[in-house]
Amino acid sequence: MTTDTPEVLSCKGLRKRFDDVTAVDDVSFTIAAGETYGLLGPNGAGKTTIISMVAGILRPDAGDVLVEGVPVSTRTTEPKGRIGYVPQELAVYPDLTGRENLTFFARLQGLSRVAAARRVAHVLGVVGLTDRADDRAEHYSGGMRRRLHIGMGLLHEPILLVLDEPTAGVDPQSRNAIMDNIRELAHSGLAILYTTHYMEEAERLCDRVGVIDAGRLVAEGTRRELVALLGERDRISLSVDGDLGHAEDVARLVPAVLGVAARGRGLELLVHDARQCLPAVLSALAEEDVRVRAVEVDEPNLETVFLHLTGRALRG
Ligand SMILES: Nc1ncnc2c1ncn2[C@@H]1O[C@H](COP(=O)(O)OP(=O)(O)O)[C@@H](O)[C@H]1O
Ligand SMILES: [Mg+2]
Repeated sequence: MTTDTPEVLSCKGLRKRFDDVTAVDDVSFTIAAGETYGLLGPNGAGKTTIISMVAGILRPDAGDVLVEGVPVSTRTTEPKGRIGYVPQELAVYPDLTGRENLTFFARLQGLSRVAAARRVAHVLGVVGLTDRADDRAEHYSGGMRRRLHIGMGLLHEPILLVLDEPTAGVDPQSRNAIMDNIRELAHSGLAILYTTHYMEEAERLCDRVGVIDAGRLVAEGTRRELVALLGERDRISLSVDGDLGHAEDVARLVPAVLGVAARGRGLELLVHDARQCLPAVLSALAEEDVRVRAVEVDEPNLETVFLHLTGRALRG
């Protein structure tokens, strides 16, 4: 961490038990300004419990949450004012318009009528709802309602935005709009804490990912770093006709191939970079008259990382 990117959020040793369930078990991580950090894990992993403690609405059994070095607790208000918290379910008044909903919350936060109007107009633009601002929220799609939620979290100009699975249950197009919003907010310098059980989202959106399983942070890093835990190996699966042993011998001699195994009626090759070495593999086989019927490339992703670390699929 350099001095130009001070930590906005620092969590240290967070723990939380509910009766006999250890929901969060010694979780520590930091987020810098402009950084998007994703907590990735299956349902029940402890994501909501972690961010409820970050947002200061749930008291940890142990550990600290610091926002710009100031401790957050369920009893303090000052550091919490720096956090925009967007829970999964939020009260939107269906018979108020988007603008009226936001204005209501802005006024609750103590903004004057004029300041609220100005801030609401700005936030509507940020979340892409200006065109529909004066429609009643009951006519909004699920995705638009989620963006209205995000808008509510932005009204008081937080430095940290905390989002709990903001794309759960919305259609793919709205999902993309929400992700674009979040990316732009990060570009504007906000620190973002994002939870998801979708590994594609974590890969696309997050600078760093914390993999959560059964309350524990089992690994953390950029996608590259996490994938490197697996030794950064891509897999090429080839279906071949004829003598498998011969094909195996040929494939083994291609310099970029790290390992070869016969699998069913084909070969499985371990390589560093599948796309780069595939042409060499295919031409070597062609030269030796090995007919390849199908090729499948499998690059390790966060799903693979999760499986590797926990022995379970992310969505199971
Ligand atoms: N208020 C609560 N009382 C009892 N158990 C809870 C409570 N909230 C969460 N849990 C349990 O804690 C674990 C983590 O839940 P949660 O943080 O909601 O996970 P996630 O958000 O990753 O789906 C689960 O086993 C869940 O059943
Ligand atoms: Mg949750």
